[in-house]
Amino acid sequence: MRELFDRLKKRVVEILKGEGEKEIKLKEICKLLKGEVPHYDWVGFYFVNPDDKRELILGPFEGEDTEHVRIPFGKGICGQAAERKRLFVVQDVSKESNYLSCSPLVKAEIVVPLFDRKGEIVGELDIDSHELSPFTEEDREFLKEIALEIKNYLF
Ligand code: SME
Repeated sequence: MRELFDRLKKRVVEILKGEGEKEIKLKEICKLLKGEVPHYDWVGFYFVNPDDKRELILGPFEGEDTEHVRIPFGKGICGQAAERKRLFVVQDVSKESNYLSCSPLVKAEIVVPLFDRKGEIVGELDIDSHELSPFTEEDREFLKEIALEIKNYLF
């Protein structure tokens, strides 16, 4: 997996370095990660609402539409990750009581917070998987590296 992740990291940096709007670059990253990593079945970004810093708003994503377009801090896996400002992994969503279901196919979820240069949380990268317990230490490391590159280039 590390070889694939190294290759993807390079492509992510190329996307970030390219011309164009932030939203389009982030959408490209979603497409890349969902298309290349077999256990990533929904990949999307949520951003902190600038008018209500206790709420997340859905940004670019790749995968099925979701009803969870606005998520208060503390609610669901996304809201908990935002509240704690830490990477949050749930390997079996059926065991998580504070969870907002998007699709019955989803079995696991990983959420990585995104920070700006001042260290403030600006959003998060959210990934759903249709596999049980799919996320390893390599996923965590890779996704933290992606979040860091996004900060370096966009925030
Ligand atoms: N499952 C998330 C909601 C967002 S979707 O996965 C796209 C949660 O519990 O916060």
